[in-house]
Amino acid sequence: MDFKQIVSHCKEYGFVYQSSEIYDGLAAVYDYGPYGVALKNNLKQFWWKSMVQMHENIVGIDSSIFMHPKIWKASGHVDAFNDPLVDNKDSKKRYRADQLIEGYTDKIEAKIKKDVEKARKKFGDDFDEQQFRTTNGRIIDRQAKIDDILGRMNSYLTAEDMAGLKNLIVELEIACPVSGSKEWTDVRQFNLMFSTQYGGAVGEDKLYLRPETAQGIFVNFANVAKTSRQKIPFGIAQIGKAFRNEIVARQFIFRMREFEQMEMQFFVKPGTELDWYEQWKAKRMKWHNALGVPTSKLRFHDHESLAHYANAAADIEFEFPFGFKELEGIHSRTDFDLNAHQELSGKKLQYFDPTVNENYVPYVVETSIGADRMFLAQVSLNLVEEEVPDADGKGSTRTVMKFHPAIAPIKCAVLPLLKNHEGLVKASEDILSDLRVSTDVQYDAKDAIGRRYRRQDAIGTPFCVTVDHQTLEDQTVTLRDRDSLEQIRIPMSEVRKEVVKKTSMDDLLLATK
Ligand code: GAP
Repeated sequence: MDFKQIVSHCKEYGFVYQSSEIYDGLAAVYDYGPYGVALKNNLKQFWWKSMVQMHENIVGIDSSIFMHPKIWKASGHVDAFNDPLVDNKDSKKRYRADQLIEGYTDKIEAKIKKDVEKARKKFGDDFDEQQFRTTNGRIIDRQAKIDDILGRMNSYLTAEDMAGLKNLIVELEIACPVSGSKEWTDVRQFNLMFSTQYGGAVGEDKLYLRPETAQGIFVNFANVAKTSRQKIPFGIAQIGKAFRNEIVARQFIFRMREFEQMEMQFFVKPGTELDWYEQWKAKRMKWHNALGVPTSKLRFHDHESLAHYANAAADIEFEFPFGFKELEGIHSRTDFDLNAHQELSGKKLQYFDPTVNENYVPYVVETSIGADRMFLAQVSLNLVEEEVPDADGKGSTRTVMKFHPAIAPIKCAVLPLLKNHEGLVKASEDILSDLRVSTDVQYDAKDAIGRRYRRQDAIGTPFCVTVDHQTLEDQTVTLRDRDSLEQIRIPMSEVRKEVVKKTSMDDLLLATK
């Protein structure tokens, strides 16, 4: 499905709404509807369980959004959490300079892809994409151009050379996508943190809304180490809101101003961090694969220019409908944050390691994924239109969300064949109230049964129980499988056990091990 269809499906079926819509909306802020919040909660639960429940040496916290303003000074966010901003003089539209440049290289990449697909069609089964990419002259030239542009852009970003970025935009003759004009202002740094006023006597009254949850973990390191009696290596996990005043916040919930992060900081002995970094990269990729994301839709992107706190960093990129983009970050953050907080707070943030009989500031490997971005990845992957056979043998098209059953918003719908038949309604209500104890269910008695199946397909319900006249005779019902469309007859008394088994998160969690 294309991106527009995905966005409108999310709205029409109660997954995601524009925030403050009746007041014409608030840009880049979104609300989750009934099915959206259920899906997002399930994704968060899968992440939390796979981190905290499945690891003896990872514990959770929930730190506050308001924190002492010095935290953001120590972390470097006050001075360095900037994006390069540029305005088009004619359209007055604002852009991130790096995104304009990446937009330019994306277009070259799209041409490469087109050539690859043409060749794939021509050579059929014998086609070797890797060989084609490394031997075709036109592709080699185009790739070299991309590498040169991105290499220069990254070096300007690292050196905070705003004039260099402006010159690159001018040299590439990049035009404003709205006005087509090439008249640009100078590029300048723009701090992404939101601030607000604090009424108490902190000394400084300006507070920041946290731009990442990670700092709540760092400043609680000593508390958690002491109270959880964990020994290094150990991790602290957290899920929570983060806020960034993104310059350009397009692409729906991909880039929001208020969003949710799922972060885990893993504290390790200095010198072992790059080994742990590799282990976490592999483990996180396995987590995505466990959910059924095909390997062709995911890739690593190793960072060449590193953030001020990192000695290695990679993104896991997912192929969204608008191309491969960052879904998760894995960063080897060294001892930068703990050291900086130790220095500014004057409090020791060290760990006594009994195995070597010495104190040290641990190094940190971080895994950080946006819950909203993960949501968008799952919706983009699983929302499909497909041909299915009808009851009368003819084909028809259905729109279906093929989520893994464990993360589907509704696990089972109960459908009486007739809505005004006392016996069928009573049997349906009995099944529903039994199922409700264990899982998320829905009752639907309106319209023909086929239409009800389609409604459940459209929100990704993996199972439907249909209560018909035979139910009243032998207490059996049909259980319909969303993906295979197979219908089996099972005793009413077994519906709960069967649905719970088929929608359990256990297998997913086992697959992450
Ligand atoms: N603590 C490290 C950190 O915050 P990041 O790469 O800036 O690293 C981590 O963010 C993840 O948070 C990203 O991979 C993305 O999934 C999510 N994220 C970041 N900015 C976002 C935004 N504006 N809207 C939605 N998700 C965002």
